[in-house]
Amino acid sequence: MAGGEGSGSGGDWRRTHTCGELREEHAGQQVVLNGWVASRRNLGGIYFVDLRDRYGLTQVILPEDLEASAKLSREDCVSIVGEVARREAPNEKMPTGLIEVRASSVEKLSSSKTPPFEIEEGSDTAVELRLRYRYLDIRRPDMQRGLMHRSRFIGAMRSAFLAREFAEVETPILTKATPEGARDYLVPSRVHPGEFYALPQSPQIFKQILMVAGMDRYFQVARCFRDEDLRADRQPEFTQLDMEMSFVEEEDVFSAWEGILQDTFREAMGVELPVPFPRLTWHEAMERYGSDKPDTRFGMELIDAAPWVPHSGFGVFQKIIEGGGRVMGITIPGGGEAISRGNVKKLEEVVKTYGAGGLAWWKPGVEGGAGGSIVKFCQDESGAKLREVMGASEGDMCAFVAGDQDVVWKALGALRLHVGKELGMVPETDGAAAGSTGPWNFLWVTRFPMFEWDAEPNDGSDPRWVSLHHPFTAPADWNMSGDPGDMESRAYDLVMNGWELGSGSIRIHREDTQTRVFELLGLGPEEQRQKFGFLLEALSYGAPPHGGFAVGLDRIVALTLGMESIRDVVAFPKTSTASDLMCDAPSSVAGHQMKELFIAHADLPAPRDGEGA
Ligand code: AMO
Repeated sequence: MAGGEGSGSGGDWRRTHTCGELREEHAGQQVVLNGWVASRRNLGGIYFVDLRDRYGLTQVILPEDLEASAKLSREDCVSIVGEVARREAPNEKMPTGLIEVRASSVEKLSSSKTPPFEIEEGSDTAVELRLRYRYLDIRRPDMQRGLMHRSRFIGAMRSAFLAREFAEVETPILTKATPEGARDYLVPSRVHPGEFYALPQSPQIFKQILMVAGMDRYFQVARCFRDEDLRADRQPEFTQLDMEMSFVEEEDVFSAWEGILQDTFREAMGVELPVPFPRLTWHEAMERYGSDKPDTRFGMELIDAAPWVPHSGFGVFQKIIEGGGRVMGITIPGGGEAISRGNVKKLEEVVKTYGAGGLAWWKPGVEGGAGGSIVKFCQDESGAKLREVMGASEGDMCAFVAGDQDVVWKALGALRLHVGKELGMVPETDGAAAGSTGPWNFLWVTRFPMFEWDAEPNDGSDPRWVSLHHPFTAPADWNMSGDPGDMESRAYDLVMNGWELGSGSIRIHREDTQTRVFELLGLGPEEQRQKFGFLLEALSYGAPPHGGFAVGLDRIVALTLGMESIRDVVAFPKTSTASDLMCDAPSSVAGHQMKELFIAHADLPAPRDGEGA
């Protein structure tokens, strides 16, 4: 019998098993399955239907008359009653592949229009379409796996925090600006004409105030909002696993997180992480990898070529060193063979994007033009010295960048990554979250600079110092003596496989130091009072020394699945222009709502046409 559509009437249509559950031992049992028609094939008067739900796929066999009355289409939502039988042709690849369900009745719970794309694993459907019909996209098994992994991961992390006496506390969404370096999303107040709430860029100030309030150990699965340029690893709203601890130094925060991540990886993925994670100071990371988020899955570290320069007779390099600049390089193992002259051009483009004037290169043991752009400065004694400095031998290639330290670090850091990827030196992280072997190369990067000089602030104000982390980060030296550009902070990042997973710091718990930092950042007393008066006041009531950290949950979930884009582990993400294509947000609102909020349009730009994802 085929029941009335969507009625759910005519007997109990509710499932006895899920579509991922049935095995050989169920053979002979009468079962009810609920799910979606993933596929439907007619093989000589018998219909084979694959029924899908979150748990898997089960093959259902329908005799022709049953199929004829039910008229099933792909993505119809159905209830099927039938008997479990062993398959004549088992499919070892499917967990339910040893059985099939021979249907005796079908009830269509709800029918589906023809879906705009195939709902199957690894679909290459355009992102715009996937986002517009996200509910269909999420029916795909890989999306479901991603969201389930996310749920398990967050659950495991929560348990790990609770087991360590952390209390979960929610902080407000309608609040005042917390500076994390992006623009704020603002919400107009109806009751206070002309005034706005800001959505939190992070719970930073509230979590510090919770420490002043004696909560001692706080955590939260916190939604954060940042109006900034979007990339594969950034969404305008995203989730942090945010935490704060009282009476601690850096090592206490590190060891708490190492234990929490160890428990989480074990629980959610069956992976045993080795701890403690290595630590590098920011300066070491820059000097060795040219990056504050080094990918330590492979070597090819930066080498200071200065000891060779006096032997080289190369005036350009000598001048740069005398002028306080740097000459550094990398030795590319096997690069002599692997990198052609044409490739060198590409490498040159990479370093130029980071402001380098050019790329000097040398292949030890190769003479003439093919030996490199600086081969004539690498003869005899100079060549021997350069081999020694660079740890290079015949068959390798050395690539050099010279100039300001900052440019040299960043250009060579990017070159190292580029070459590492091109030459297959970066091991693939296997994407299967469960039982994944990684490699998971975690690393703490510590002692970031306190400030950096912003020559062109994006609010149009005068050039000034800005905090590298945020203005609540403690200086390494409480006296804050010396030049702001040379001051070290107590900020740290957690890096994994070249991605910044999280950031944190030991905080300023003294009102006088906090005021000094604000002053250095160009905030006068009135602005300090207006923006952060409540924090300064809280700090004046016996604030404990404290520190904390926040991990980007979307990032860690994506990375542990071997994915590069966080969009696939966010149920309803936004496009690169911060739009939600499914519900069409943002959108204009009725005139009366604008009035109520005392908002008048300034000159609006022309309407958007088309929407990039
Ligand atoms: P920070 O700004 O470094 O630190 O943010 C912490 C981590 O959050 C993630 N993240 C993002 N993920 C997705 N989309 C974004 N737009 C985005 N922006 C940041 C990153 C980042 O490492 N309050 C401090 C933490 C602290 O000091 O305790 C903070 O928010 O993985």
